Amino acid sequence: MSRSSEELLHHYEQSGLLARILAGLKALGKDLNSLTHEDLAPADEFHSHGRNATRALAEFARIPSGSRVLDVGSGLGGPARYLAATYGCDVSGIDLSPEFCSVANELSRLTGLAGRTRFQVGDALALPFADSHFDVVWTIQMQMNIADKRRLYDGIVRVLKPGGLFVCQEACLGNGEPLDFPVPWASRPDQSHLADPESLRGLVRDAGLRERSWRDFTAEIVAARKAQQAKAQASGAGGTSGFPPLGMHLVLGDQAAAKMANSARNTDVGRVVFIQGVFEKPEFRS
Ligand SMILES: C[S@@+](CC[C@H](N)C(=O)[O-])C[C@H]1O[C@@H](n2cnc3c(N)ncnc32)[C@H](O)[C@@H]1O
Repeated sequence: MSRSSEELLHHYEQSGLLARILAGLKALGKDLNSLTHEDLAPADEFHSHGRNATRALAEFARIPSGSRVLDVGSGLGGPARYLAATYGCDVSGIDLSPEFCSVANELSRLTGLAGRTRFQVGDALALPFADSHFDVVWTIQMQMNIADKRRLYDGIVRVLKPGGLFVCQEACLGNGEPLDFPVPWASRPDQSHLADPESLRGLVRDAGLRERSWRDFTAEIVAARKAQQAKAQASGAGGTSGFPPLGMHLVLGDQAAAKMANSARNTDVGRVVFIQGVFEKPEFRS
């Protein structure tokens, strides 16, 4: 493993993560023997706007039921379990983090979804799957850790069946001003490789995919966060010490408050924008 990958794992991994998530579920009165994927959503959807964004992206893409899906950079597996439970998909996830894959597999076992979701350690730049294997390749907020985006998208196109869909939600470069760090995906600037939306869109098309749908999703993300903050303040649960028993702070670790605050500020002042895109691999490539 390269030094930069090791350092990225150091950024992401929080030892004892599973125990903290289970403790959070217990604190909410959940029975660990009858968990649902919905119960886990506050802690296993590691991206902006959480489960709501996953739901919106799946609807935007009109995910075909029963699809064979690859989730690239699958994190704790929340989106994969949602696709399996809601659309009857069979989802394989790949992630750089051994801890995340282990937690993801255990959470799938606990929710009875282990038969339709599985997670393995691997690099998005060397996908260990056969050509034309998946109906859908799905990725949420992972490519910003990847400098060599051309290689990423070439690999994604390779494993996608002709006629298959590439579906993504991504954080992109906004007004070009430098970001405040740490953010949820990077402790330092050299771990963050944001492309502006049009460049990203062009890279995906250059890799051989045809665009079906594309939208700026920033306003939805900002509005949802502001509504959530207002609700937390009204209930007296605002502020850094007022995290709920189960939430993204468990995944973000010691610097959760700083990562969340920086992420919010970077977005509010236009440095980061979010897009959702749906692309298709043509049946015949010229
Ligand atoms: C912000 S999290 C998003 C996780 C998940 N997609 C979700 O939305 O819940 C980014 C994930 O990308 C993974 N990642 C970063 N670089 C990767 C790479 N080269 N190959 C595979 N996974 C990678 C990280 O380990 C992390 O789990």
